[in-house]
Amino acid sequence: PDPRDKLFCHIAEHTRRQQNKISIIGIGHVGQAVLASLLFQKITDNIAIYDRDEDKIKGELLDFQYAAMYSSNTHIEGSTKINVIVNSKIVIITAGARRQKGDTRITLVQKNVEVFQDIIPKIVQYAPHAVLILVSNPVDIMTYITDKISCLPPGQVVGSGTNLDTSRLHFYMSHKYNVAAESCKGWVIGEHGETAVIAYSTLTVGGTYIEDINFKMGESCDIEKWSDIHNEVLTTSANIISLKGYTNWAIGLSVADLAHTIITNNKSVHPVTVSAKGFYCITEDVYLSLPAVLGENGVIEVVRLELSSKECELLRKSADYLYNMQKEIKI
Ligand code: 2OP
Repeated sequence: PDPRDKLFCHIAEHTRRQQNKISIIGIGHVGQAVLASLLFQKITDNIAIYDRDEDKIKGELLDFQYAAMYSSNTHIEGSTKINVIVNSKIVIITAGARRQKGDTRITLVQKNVEVFQDIIPKIVQYAPHAVLILVSNPVDIMTYITDKISCLPPGQVVGSGTNLDTSRLHFYMSHKYNVAAESCKGWVIGEHGETAVIAYSTLTVGGTYIEDINFKMGESCDIEKWSDIHNEVLTTSANIISLKGYTNWAIGLSVADLAHTIITNNKSVHPVTVSAKGFYCITEDVYLSLPAVLGENGVIEVVRLELSSKECELLRKSADYLYNMQKEIKI
C-alpha cells in the first residue's frame, strides 16, 4: 500500500488556485526582478514564467522555488511553451532587447517589433482575458504596438510608463522636505523617457501644493532648483545603466505595485501608459502616461488633470516626440 495512505485519509482532489495567476514573459534582469517582487510581496500565489531559453527557465525556477518556501509557498512554473500562461489574470511583458549603453529607448523599438509580432497573438490566444502590462522599452511605443496587434478591448493593455519615474520623483521630494515618500504626491506624465513632464501643478507634500509656496517652481530663479530634480528623475535610468549595465529592481517593484492594484481590483490611481488621443489637444494616436484608475480589467478611468498651459505644451511635445518615432514603425 502507498505509505501516504498511512499518513492521510483522502477526502477530495487537490486543486491549484487559478484566480490570481500572473505570468511573466521574458526572464531577463527585469523579468527576474518582477518575479522576485511578486514573490516577496506576496502579490499572488500562482506565477508562470515564459522564455525562449530553456536552461534559463530551469535555472531560475530551481533558484526561485527554494525562495518560494520563504514566501507563502507560491506556486511557480515555467516553460519555453507559451501555453504555460493559460488562465492568467495578468501577463507582464518584459521580453525584448534591453537598453545598452548609448541606446535610447527608441532605438530599441526596431529590435522589439518583430519579437512582438510573433508573441502577442500567442499571448492573446492563451490568456484572452488577461490584463497585459508592458514593461519592454520603449514602453510607450511597445504599448501602442501591443494594443494594435492584440485588438483587445480598451484598457486591457497598459504600460508601466511613468509609474517608476513618479516614485523616483517622490523619493527626491521626500529627501528635499524630510518627509516619507508616501506623503509626497503628484505626477510625472508623458513619455517614459527624456521628454517626460513633471506636472508641477500636481505636486503636494502633506496636502500642500508646492506651487502655493514656491511660485517660481522650475524657473531659472527657483531657489528650490526644481529643474535639478527634473534632470535627476529623468536621467536616473541612464545613470544606473552606465554604472551596472541595466536597471531592474525599482522597475520590478513598480510593476508589482501595478499588478497588486489590478489583481485586487483596488481602483487606485497610477501614472501608466494609455492611449492619449483626445487628451490635452493630442490629436495623434499616441500612447503615453496619464494618471489612470486601475482595476481587475486594466484601465477604468483616465484622470482629467487641470494642467497649466506650459504643462500642456510640454505634454504635446512629448506626444510629438513619440509620434515622430512611432510613425516610422511598420506593424
Ligand atoms: C527604467 O527607467 C527600465 O526604463 C526603465 O529604469
